[in-house]
Amino acid sequence: MNISIFGLGYVGCVSLGCLAQNGHNVIGVDVSGLKVDQINLGQSTIVEKDIDLIIAEQHKAGRIRATQDIHDAVLSSEISIVAVGTPSTERGHLNLDYIFKVAEDIAEALKLKNEFHVIAIRSTVVPGTCEEFAQVISDRTGKIQDIDFAVVDNPEFLREGTAVADYYNPPLTLIGSRCAEATDKMKMLYEQLPAEIIVTDVKVAEVMKYVNNTFHALKISFANEIGNICSAMGIDSHEVMDIFCKDRQLNISPYYLKPGFAYGGSCLPKDLKGLQTLAHDLYVQAPVIQGIDKSNDIQKRRAVNLLDKYYGKKIAVLGLSFKAGTDDLRNSPAVELVETLIGRGFDIAIYDRNIHTAQLTGKNKEYIERRIPHLSNLLVEDLDGLIDDSDVIVISNNEQQFLSALEKVYDKVIIDMVRIDVPSMKDNNTYIGINWHKPKSAVYESQREAHFNYS
Ligand SMILES: NC(=O)c1ccc[n+]([C@@H]2O[C@H](COP(=O)([O-])OP(=O)(O)OC[C@H]3O[C@@H](n4cnc5c(N)ncnc54)[C@H](O)[C@@H]3O)[C@@H](O)[C@H]2O)c1
Repeated sequence: MNISIFGLGYVGCVSLGCLAQNGHNVIGVDVSGLKVDQINLGQSTIVEKDIDLIIAEQHKAGRIRATQDIHDAVLSSEISIVAVGTPSTERGHLNLDYIFKVAEDIAEALKLKNEFHVIAIRSTVVPGTCEEFAQVISDRTGKIQDIDFAVVDNPEFLREGTAVADYYNPPLTLIGSRCAEATDKMKMLYEQLPAEIIVTDVKVAEVMKYVNNTFHALKISFANEIGNICSAMGIDSHEVMDIFCKDRQLNISPYYLKPGFAYGGSCLPKDLKGLQTLAHDLYVQAPVIQGIDKSNDIQKRRAVNLLDKYYGKKIAVLGLSFKAGTDDLRNSPAVELVETLIGRGFDIAIYDRNIHTAQLTGKNKEYIERRIPHLSNLLVEDLDGLIDDSDVIVISNNEQQFLSALEKVYDKVIIDMVRIDVPSMKDNNTYIGINWHKPKSAVYESQREAHFNYS
């Protein structure tokens, strides 16, 4: 394929060399004349293992060149990859000025082109950027998105220092696209790579780098804080983290990584508190660890806020224990939610088969009588009757019984804390997730507006 790459820094230079090595013809574009000259002399623009040799060989083979003539680059290629920088602004937003300058440049060139053209944003961008980029092109050329041209997101996952190795062995190839023709062309770019190609919504692809890199930063900071606490006690922190990483069921695994309601139960809050107190007593600062319960409190408040506007309605809470399949009410976020709502005068009834069974059999009796006597009176036995009788249904844990009971519900408000996915409510605006939205939520739009105004 014929490809142009805008931006010849770390990402652009590596893509240029590696795509050429995979047999494509690649034209680099950069505002820096020096970088353009370097490529045309067969030299790398960056210091990075193996890239010098690749650029030299591919230049010799005639598969790479560079130019500052944007028309030449766009008219000679079917895909333009955008790999310009997106540094932080003083306010912490990404500066997208270079991205939109490229949009304007490509638009000018596309005025002279009749064939379909794909623009792949490889830079890290804020969600909504591809849409904005496409709008710039439509406005300036009169061309129709997804017919005359398409803008897809194709984030880069390489790390400096191992960039070439990472390019050829990425964890996955991600394409955010709404246009089948563009998707097919993008897949052809990467078909030689061993990684799975995932095609997804454009905004999902755009947010992924933020999510990945934030998680990487969190992992490093968590390990450092554990190290600091262990060192203060003379414990070998590397031994601790090595063993930690051997647990692939709960620790290094997808487990606990689904957005939903707050954690609770008898172990997580207690042991977190224990470690926080230990760090405090050892005079070890551990802000990540110290902040975890604050984040959890925010999640509980978020649930209360979601319900606030249904004051005066009949509310059914399905699930009172901290997770499905248990009668354990200790530190259950659902108990806290119900208590807060009762305190505010809400009309509430609760269904929880496990608590009901526990009551009948005397299990957990002491806790129920001591801790939630006021909630016991709100427990009902008939789940279907409760659903029929309520205006608003809150699903607080993913007990599968709830799913079948809600199968035929179309006309209620459902507030789902765990994404149990009620099929009959799928396209209903009154099916509300605690932290998932349909793509164009009011919250998202206002954040995006703030970004584009202040970046
Ligand atoms: N460096 C990494 O390890 C890495 C990894 C993954 C993703 N990313 C992302 O990729 C993007 C690029 O990062 P980088 O490290 O390669 O940046 P970089 O600063 O090394 O290179 C950017 C290049 O873009 C050029 N440029 C700026 N405006 C231009 C324009 N209008 N037309 C043509 N060229 C232009 C600059 O001259 C520069 O050579 C960023 O969004 C970054 O966050 C970087």
